[in-house]
Amino acid sequence: MRNYLNINAISKNDVLHLIKRAIALKSGDQPKTKSLTAINLFFENSTRTHSSFQMAENYLNWKQIQINPLTSSMTKGESLTDTLKTLKAIGVDVAVIRHSQNAWYENVLKHQGHAIPQLVNAGDGSGQHPSQSLLDLVTIYQEFGHFEGLKVRIIGDLAHSRVARSNAEILKSLGATLTFSGPIDWQPSNFYTFGEHVEVDENWSEQDVVMFLRVQHERITQTENQNFSSKKYHECYGLTDKRYANLKQQAIIMHPAPVNRDVEIADHLVEAPKSRIFEQMTNGVYARMAILEYVTE
Ligand code: CP
Repeated sequence: MRNYLNINAISKNDVLHLIKRAIALKSGDQPKTKSLTAINLFFENSTRTHSSFQMAENYLNWKQIQINPLTSSMTKGESLTDTLKTLKAIGVDVAVIRHSQNAWYENVLKHQGHAIPQLVNAGDGSGQHPSQSLLDLVTIYQEFGHFEGLKVRIIGDLAHSRVARSNAEILKSLGATLTFSGPIDWQPSNFYTFGEHVEVDENWSEQDVVMFLRVQHERITQTENQNFSSKKYHECYGLTDKRYANLKQQAIIMHPAPVNRDVEIADHLVEAPKSRIFEQMTNGVYARMAILEYVTE
């Protein structure tokens, strides 16, 4: 039994095992069903992550109990740690948690006394999004069968993106060559450990994977929001017809979604042949089944 909190804290072997397990599950392998109970605690909004964890739990034949954090006793001041101890005491095996606080789990693990459920991080603030990262790896591996030497460009709001933070480190350690583009104010220097910052159109036609990031209006400042022009952003950093036409034949387009249509990607290109955005969502169910099996092995 283990937690799944940061994909970059687990071994490369385990990451490859999870990728292959997700693909096997997608191809029809039988899940390792156990009589377990999960709770999905989402303190931040979600469509994909929440519903695909629910689907994954259904496919594993697990039971689910529901609490809305907004109507739970946390509104009376009970801590997340005490809430988790309570959930374990009543029989919950795994807690899948999305929280606005970066690394919310550190405080929980520090104050652990009574047992808590196995923890799965479904996204922490602008920290990590390890289940999204796994489904992205599954999507890339399914397409190319390897990571070594792949050219991956990540474009957009790196500063607030937990997806970019999770993906940059793991993709580099798996052998991909990364480059980053986007507004310079949203390109923190700590990403340069993983790859260079380049102009969007530089070596564009050599890229195997182009990953666009959502502009996170809820995380940027009021001034940044006031000065933001969707049209200008799209022209400078978005997927336009011209950029799409200049992609190499086997290249794929990815985006964690939700997509701001006509901002990161032109509306009519969201479902273009090179787009894997909805495939990513499908892969999310199998990646999350693999994660739930992994934490309860
Ligand atoms: N990609 C992603 O995390 O989407 P949701 O916020 O809808 O879960």
